[in-house]
Amino acid sequence: MGEALLGQKRTIMCGELRESHIGTNVTVMGWVQRRRNLGGLIFVDLRDRSGLLQVMFGEEINKAAFEKADLLRTEYCISVSGEIVRRESPNPNMPTGMVELKGSSIKILSEAETPPIYIKEDLDASEHIRMKYRYLDLRRPDMQKIFVIRSKAAKSVRDYYADNGFLEVETPMLTKSTPEGARDYLVPSRNYPGMFYALPQSPQLFKQLLMVSGFDRYYQIVKCFRDEDLRANRQPEFTQIDIEMSFVEQDDVIAMNEGLVKKVFMDVLGVEIETPFRRMPYKEAMEKYGSDKPDLRFGMEITNISDAVKNSDFKVFRDALDNGGSVRAIRVDNCAGMGRKDLDRLGEFVKTYKAKGLAWVAYKEEEIKSPIAKFLKEEEMKAILDTMNAKAGDLILILSDSDKVVLQALGALRLELAKKLEILKDNNEFNFLWITEFPLVSYNEEEGRYQAEHHPFTAPLDEDIEYLDTNPIKVRAKAYDMVLNGEELGGGSIRIHDSKLQEKMFNVLGFTKEKAWERFGFLLEAFKYGPPPHGGLAFGFDRLIMFLSGTDNIKDVIAFPKNQNAFDPMTEAPNVVDEVQLKELGLSINQDGNIE
Ligand code: AMO
Ligand code: AMP
Repeated sequence: MGEALLGQKRTIMCGELRESHIGTNVTVMGWVQRRRNLGGLIFVDLRDRSGLLQVMFGEEINKAAFEKADLLRTEYCISVSGEIVRRESPNPNMPTGMVELKGSSIKILSEAETPPIYIKEDLDASEHIRMKYRYLDLRRPDMQKIFVIRSKAAKSVRDYYADNGFLEVETPMLTKSTPEGARDYLVPSRNYPGMFYALPQSPQLFKQLLMVSGFDRYYQIVKCFRDEDLRANRQPEFTQIDIEMSFVEQDDVIAMNEGLVKKVFMDVLGVEIETPFRRMPYKEAMEKYGSDKPDLRFGMEITNISDAVKNSDFKVFRDALDNGGSVRAIRVDNCAGMGRKDLDRLGEFVKTYKAKGLAWVAYKEEEIKSPIAKFLKEEEMKAILDTMNAKAGDLILILSDSDKVVLQALGALRLELAKKLEILKDNNEFNFLWITEFPLVSYNEEEGRYQAEHHPFTAPLDEDIEYLDTNPIKVRAKAYDMVLNGEELGGGSIRIHDSKLQEKMFNVLGFTKEKAWERFGFLLEAFKYGPPPHGGLAFGFDRLIMFLSGTDNIKDVIAFPKNQNAFDPMTEAPNVVDEVQLKELGLSINQDGNIE
């Protein structure tokens, strides 16, 4: 059915043809976007990766070619040869719109059934269908643009690190569990029945070992696997730009990777990114924005108004303050007129963040409206408005509870308001920021022990080491995250390279020496042989591409992604396997469908 090329070669891509090509003979190959038969003339829009070209067949010009062109349907794959001529009715909206190809011969390389989705921009087909026929979805120019960006970005990344003396080294995919804190994907072993490899959540331990090996500067664009709840910016299988450097401190890692971002944005988008980026300690980010990845493209900072109401009798505030909590608020400029329904909705919204209610004060020209006015003394209300720097027309939203709940809920409310009020609608800014001084550990109430916030090899700030024994919660880490427009783009840390300090860290985390050796023995052993001071970072490469291509769905930037349930509708993975395969692995499936 499909004709063979038989030595025929493509001479140019469809999208490249311009007026300068008029009079030349070309051969193009691609897919039929559209075919129109206007009596004696047939027009075909031919598409390849570079764009569209109009091809014309005339009954009078070449009867054989015309008759064959009449057989064409959308998405047939064809090759056409002929002369480039000036178009009679030019189309200024098309890059090739001044010319057309006068087809003198045509080969139908393969036919196509009617495709289940349209191959066009801004497709609104269901996600399931798009994923099931992903190869057709990827024919769409929208999608192809993204993968051009992705490929350009990868090249830019490689150039940058290579130019800065980094070696690209691959690390294993079949490995042992890494300490990044998500669930592992496991692979059963045939040689060791009952034993499993883990797919890497990151190359963390291997890149540290490469530093022990003296590789000095390492990078890799690498697949990572994490079995966690999926969101718009999370996939079970994703790509990191992973780097590690020896003989460096935090500022060196930060400066090196600001340089990377600058280059990639210039190479791919031609956008100049200002460096150095702003830095903000974790504590400040939490207090002002209720988030460790604040979006600084707009204000609406959180203000602590506990002082203004410290003597208040209002039970809600009193309870929070007496229980060691706080009263905090955000000011929404010029929104005193917000309707009751909207305010109620915001009240419901904060409840999903465990807040019990939301108080509001509408500071109108003529009066102050607030459901809590009756519980507050006049001077308390005045103190609140003063602390908030409120002017007539502003709306104040107030929460009281434990610090944790108040900050989290107000942080989320701030983002919700930005969305609702469309504050960022026409914002094209790339707002970069480093969050630094993360806490080293947090307390796990359920397990009754401290756990590493980043991973157990992250170094504490030198000036905080003294609290490791007495008050670990107070210890800040040499850890840093790069945040872009409120998303975590990357993160890393300076690692512990001193075995005494590492032992102490394991102690704090409640690891016995045996347990630490059982899990990380190979790393601890390696660290006996002169590990250099080192540190590094990993970017979420897919997230970077999301920003570069302006999409908010991570699936758009991965050629063959998984759906929200970690399923691939096209290959239908995961799926059952042969009995024989299971047997070889020493596994069997019981009646409940579980592995034994
Ligand atoms: P971390 O766990 O912060 O650090 O991961 C680094 C970056 O990877 C991206 N990322 C993801 N992207 C898509 N889907 C996911 N499920 C997903 N999980 C993480 C994020 C994140 O900032 N080994 C350390 C780095 C280091 O210390 O050098 C690490 O993996 O953008
Ligand atoms: P109540 O005493 O429950 O009727 O609440 C009186 C007002 O306080 C209402 O406007 C509530 O929305 C508000 N409110 C309730 N709980 C909180 C809270 N935790 N923080 C701030 N305001 C609250």
